This record gives sequence, structure tokens and C-alpha cells, in this order.
Amino acid sequence: MDEVSVLAPATVANVVCGFDCLGFALGEPFDEMIVRRIDEPVVRIVNVDDFGLPTEPERNVAGVALQAFIEAARLDHGFEIVSNKQIMPGSGIGSSAASACGAVVAANALTGERFTKLELVEIAMAGEALASGSRHADNLAPCIYGGFTLVRSTEPLDIVEIDFPPLFATVIHPQIEIKTSEARAMLPKDVPLKSAIRNWSNLGSLVAALAKGDYDLIARSLEDTIVEPVRKSLIPKFDEVKSAALFAGALGGGISGSGPSIFMLSDNEATSQTVATEMARVFEGTNMNFNVHVSKIADSGVRVHQ
Ligand code: HSE
Repeated sequence: MDEVSVLAPATVANVVCGFDCLGFALGEPFDEMIVRRIDEPVVRIVNVDDFGLPTEPERNVAGVALQAFIEAARLDHGFEIVSNKQIMPGSGIGSSAASACGAVVAANALTGERFTKLELVEIAMAGEALASGSRHADNLAPCIYGGFTLVRSTEPLDIVEIDFPPLFATVIHPQIEIKTSEARAMLPKDVPLKSAIRNWSNLGSLVAALAKGDYDLIARSLEDTIVEPVRKSLIPKFDEVKSAALFAGALGGGISGSGPSIFMLSDNEATSQTVATEMARVFEGTNMNFNVHVSKIADSGVRVHQ
């Protein structure tokens, strides 16, 4: 086998109270990528979308992840990627993670599945570090595993898969630019113990509520007293959008990753569609462009087709 195509899903990181550790995979959108084995030990990138991402491998997230793969697997050959991204870079729904994960899962399929999912996340972290300046895995883990994942530790990497009940996500993406590195730099270096207790209580109960399928507890646990109060100033009308979604019946939600997307979870599809309409209504009154995605939380991560 010399060529595979992969679909790499968008992901929501943080999930309100799980900053830098919790994440889940969306049913859509996803990036499409064809990866081919080539004889030269290099990475070649061809972009067929309109995002204008760099084609030099060392400046491209998928390129850096593939270079890390070639080094980890000690390969004497390289890869060509034909990338057709559907997840807009800078949207806050794991665009860079999808690039990195799609590339390494494809390379693994082309070279005899030598790495485990955990090892692939470790390799893909090289790409995420290029994109955000930080080696976090809260988008990478759900992109590769699917479903909800918790990154207990990055050194050494330790990932926990979390059971969850049927859930539907509504994501609205106002098209403003927020750089992850800047959204990270604005966060407090120290956190009052009282806030920390509140957040780890919420994170613990959210994980338990997901595993038990307790929707009321999921709703009560989706609260963040540390990151959201600081970052929401970057997203116009954040409070209005969130209130409209809750009024329409969403369980809860907040900033997706470092923004600007806002996500909301619902316990059924009809509600998630109503939530989409009500969230969109808030932005319709502004001059901001936006798009909306509604999907079921995906059970599977990157999918490979031969
Ligand atoms: N956990 C990360 C953050 C996700 O919120 O900064 C964005 O890459």
C-alpha cells in the first residue's frame, strides 16, 4: 500500500472546566488528506484548499508532525501530503491538531501500524507545538481516539478515554482572529486556591456525569471560574450567545479551545439545531461573519481509507 486517504475530525478542547486536559471529537467538520509514500526521505506538501498554509514542511503543522514520525520510525523514505482542509485555521476547533493527527495516522497506516494511538499523539505533539508554542494534547487526543479524552499528564503522556452518553454539539465560529499563543499569554500565572478547588470539583463531576450519563450533572459541571472569565473579553457578544443557547435548552458550554468558536452541548439533536438558530440570531445583529456546525460527538478519531 503506497497511498491512503484520511478524514481527521475537528475537536473541542478544554470543555469549560478541563483547561489543557479535556477534549472531545466532533462529527463535523473534518480535514481530508491523501498521504503517499515517496522514495526520497523528505516531506512534500501540496495544498488544494484556499487557506494558503505554508508548504515548507518545517513551517507546516502536518509537515513537522510527519518529520517527527519519520525520525521516530527511523524511515529511509518520505511522504507527500495532499491536504484539503475543511477546518478553518484559527477557528478554535482543533484545525492544527487535525493536520498533525491526520498526517501521523496516515503515515502509520502506510508503514505497518507500528505505533499505538498513545505514541501517535506523542509524535503529533511536535506539530501542535509549532502551532501554539506549547506541547498540549487536549485536541490531539480526541482527534486520534475519538469521543471524550482526558490528558492526565503530558510528561509522560497518559491519556484516559471517558465513556459518554449521546451528546450533540453546536459550534458557532465568529470569523475574528484569536492567536492561541496570545490567548494563553493573557491567563493568570497563579490561581487562587478557592478557584482551583471549584474547577477541579467541576472537572471531576463532569467526568463522572459523562460516564454515568447524568445530563443534569453534566449541565451543573460545565462551569469555569479561571479561564473563561479572562478569555471571554476576546469574543464579542460571548455572554449573549451563551445565554441564548442556555435559554434554547443547551446543557451548557463555553469557549471552544482558545476561541473564537463557542460550543454548546445538548442531549438531543432537535435541541442542538434550535440552539444553533438562537446562537446565530445573536451574531446576525452584528457585521461579523460566522458559520455554525451541528454534529453528534464522534465515537471515532481519524478515519483511514485505502
Ligand atoms: N487548551 C488549549 C488552550 C487549546 O485553551 O490554550 C488551544 O490549543
